[in-house]
Amino acid sequence: MPFNFAQIFQDDLITSMVRKTAYGLATTCVLGAAAYAGYCVAAPEKHQLRHYRHPELNDQIEKVLDSLKITDDQLEQIMHLLEEEMNAGLSPLTHHQAIVKMFPTYVRNIPNGTEIGQVLALDLGGTNFRVLLIDLRGNSRIELTSKIFLIPQSVMIGDGKRLFRHLAECLHEFMQKERILNTGVCYPIGFTFSFPCQQEGLASARLTAWTKGFDCSGVVNEDVVKLLQDAIDEKRINAKCVALINDTVGTLMACAYKDPSTAIGLILGTGTNACYIENLDKVGTWKGDYNEPKQVIINMEWGAFGDNGRLNLIRTKYDEEVDLSSMNPGKQIFEKMISGMYMGEIVRLIILDLLQQELLFLGHRDTYGDYKTPLYNRGGFYTKFVSTVEIDEGIQFSNTRRVLEDIGIRNPTYDDCAIVRHICRQVSKRAAKLAAAGLAVLINRIGKSNITVGVDGSLYRYHPRFKHNMERCMETLINKSIQFKLTLSDDGSGKGAAMVACLADDSLCKKSVVHNETTRD
Ligand code: GLC
Repeated sequence: MPFNFAQIFQDDLITSMVRKTAYGLATTCVLGAAAYAGYCVAAPEKHQLRHYRHPELNDQIEKVLDSLKITDDQLEQIMHLLEEEMNAGLSPLTHHQAIVKMFPTYVRNIPNGTEIGQVLALDLGGTNFRVLLIDLRGNSRIELTSKIFLIPQSVMIGDGKRLFRHLAECLHEFMQKERILNTGVCYPIGFTFSFPCQQEGLASARLTAWTKGFDCSGVVNEDVVKLLQDAIDEKRINAKCVALINDTVGTLMACAYKDPSTAIGLILGTGTNACYIENLDKVGTWKGDYNEPKQVIINMEWGAFGDNGRLNLIRTKYDEEVDLSSMNPGKQIFEKMISGMYMGEIVRLIILDLLQQELLFLGHRDTYGDYKTPLYNRGGFYTKFVSTVEIDEGIQFSNTRRVLEDIGIRNPTYDDCAIVRHICRQVSKRAAKLAAAGLAVLINRIGKSNITVGVDGSLYRYHPRFKHNMERCMETLINKSIQFKLTLSDDGSGKGAAMVACLADDSLCKKSVVHNETTRD
């Protein structure tokens, strides 16, 4: 039976501190000890669990968490494996069986900020669907109005036709509000569709599989642009989809608009994925022309890395459980170890495991048996809780307490809080290291002396340490001669789609601007 550290901590430090305060001289010593305890709880991880918990308990907790640690050698091995998978995806001989698909996007020109046009953008990649009206005004100036619509769960897993009808209805409502419906102008649409697609052109893309909790029937293997356009035409909306892009591509484009050294787009949100600019001579699967510029953006779909078992060397029993209870077991293995859709769930499973091994929440036997609480239910620990917990720096644990109370643990002890924060740190640090390894492969491969990575996604935006953890890890993996920078991309899914649509159909854009200016007068 392990020791109840919560009890030890309270008896030995807090209670005794209060008691001894009454005895004059001893006060100084005890306060000193308490201050040191405070320092150690707040200090970097290696001190955290070692000094204050009963050693036997610490070791057992560490043993559980050891499975999440990735050594430098393992990271290098992962980089090597990823590069092999990338080459398989790019070669016509192996593309068909390849796991990391490396889809050419047909986006070859990078915006330079001088683009002018009024364009609609649609952004579908999660439970929210956004419609945007974007004015590219040249001189890197952009103005936009947008509206968010919810995609009900029933639509996410229902009939595909219903999904696209729903998108068209949202577009109709938006255009009506913006007074651009039935104006005689056909507005170009850039469609950010953040799911794996085999593109046959800028405005032709077949969905290869649903990811991130979507599962609409009748869409896989179909041309998504056509399905959207049919729904738009059915509602007689004056708009034409001229380009479909992935959110990573939008992110790259929006960042390149401001910083020409941008060569990579990365999403760390509900899902994870990256794209980068590749030379055409390395893209064996390329079916387009070889005109200048001899480059194309590749949508890697790196979330699928590991679907053939190649990441088994670092997968834990928690990863396996998350995968098995997901809507797409065996798929998107890399994504499931990194992204926001799964991170909270990994933390929840570890907490439950520690609890079952009597290593956590030891003072809560009366409350932790309530199986109705979020702690016991799939999805009960949101990924945003990981960020909230990690914002706590010192020994107050005000955020961690709130989170634990939300999941059904009343009055958690310092000890409970410190352990939960430690779990969150280990899980998010592992994710940051894996994403860093992926980026390092790309940066070393591109090999330019100065490379900017445009990044977007809620995990990257809101997690207090993700960027820092990634950068620290990347520094050790990237060739020393290369300077790299991670830049938050400002609304790439919207603006990037508008830029691609504008580049795709320049004449259409100009027409819409001229028309708009004349109607305003
Ligand atoms: C999933 C999708 C991918 C997208 C990523 C980030 O991995 O398959 O297309 O880019 O999520 O949203």
